[in-house]
Amino acid sequence: MKPPVLTFFNNKGGVGKTSLIYHLAWMYATLRKRVVIIDLDPQANLTAAFFDEETIEKIWNSRVEGSTIYQCVKPLTGVGDIAAPVLKKIIPDLYLVPGDVALSGYEDALSSEWPNSMADNNLYRPMRILSSFWQVMQMAAAKIEADIILVDIGPNLGAINRSVLIATDYVVIPLGADLFSLQGLKNLGPTLRSWKRLWHKRLANWNESQESKDHESFLLPQAKMQPIGYLCQQHSVRLDRPVTAYDKWVNRIPGIYRQAVLSEESGTSIKPVDDPYCLATIKHYRSLIPMAQEHRKPIFNLTSADGAIGSHANAVQDAGKDFRMLAKKIAEKIKL
Ligand SMILES: Nc1ncnc2c1ncn2[C@@H]1O[C@H](COP(=O)(O)OP(=O)(O)O)[C@@H](O)[C@H]1O
Ligand SMILES: [Mg+2]
Repeated sequence: MKPPVLTFFNNKGGVGKTSLIYHLAWMYATLRKRVVIIDLDPQANLTAAFFDEETIEKIWNSRVEGSTIYQCVKPLTGVGDIAAPVLKKIIPDLYLVPGDVALSGYEDALSSEWPNSMADNNLYRPMRILSSFWQVMQMAAAKIEADIILVDIGPNLGAINRSVLIATDYVVIPLGADLFSLQGLKNLGPTLRSWKRLWHKRLANWNESQESKDHESFLLPQAKMQPIGYLCQQHSVRLDRPVTAYDKWVNRIPGIYRQAVLSEESGTSIKPVDDPYCLATIKHYRSLIPMAQEHRKPIFNLTSADGAIGSHANAVQDAGKDFRMLAKKIAEKIKL
């Protein structure tokens, strides 16, 4: 059985995607699930949450095959094949395939192979490149017998993200309560549907080709891309804005989610707190966020020695409860 691939996606940045994945990954590992995280954002913010700059510089400059997501797929741009990922162990049950700023250089290969994958022949190379992230994910998961693959990506609708979404089973959409986040949500649903449809055309084209018979053991992702819900981020609210502005935007989310992501016609007056698609409202953790970043640990593992005393200690406990609940809710939805 292949472990589920869960991607957090919104083409609006700064909605807390990376922080969420960081905390959820840590929570799943605490709950004794084996987790592999793939940092597919060329900005590599998630990798920076785990390692200091010196360590990251060493990884990048060493250019060891498989040492970052880019070093895994890079051989494909020449005459080589995918390099097995070298996983970084964070704690027991938690592993990372590091991100890489050089990954943005792969965008061109993914763009140019997209039309080639619909040709009549010479399909193996384009299909191998377009599915390369999925192949790396599967290699990484097999290495540590992962229960779940968590993926972070950048905020755009480019060719890298298209390939990541093709490799994705389940999508979670983190949202801020503002115009930009909702506008992003409106584009997201149709884009996901279009990517899925276009990939299925390519799978059909491949399956009809002679090459598919010559490469029988070559497996491809099925682009399930099932949206399992959204998360509302309280922290993305600008502090100089009145609460009514938050309410105004946040209450529009359930309707837009249904329309844009689920293609449901009817409007709804349901509010996020009562909406089954709202997986959680993520609190504003204020000074706990820099404290956790400084100590390179999730908020819920902060101790008094880290500075989490008094009301902070209570907030740490609450964060633990909130993330445990969210982890379990998502686990149910993806049948983990
Ligand atoms: N729950 C939270 N409370 C307060 N600040 C947060 C929270 N989640 C994220 N942040 C901060 O918001 C900023 C954007 O978060 P990040 O996770 O990088 O978002 P994205 O990956 O969507 O760009 C970061 O500075 C991060 O520290
Ligand atoms: Mg990010």
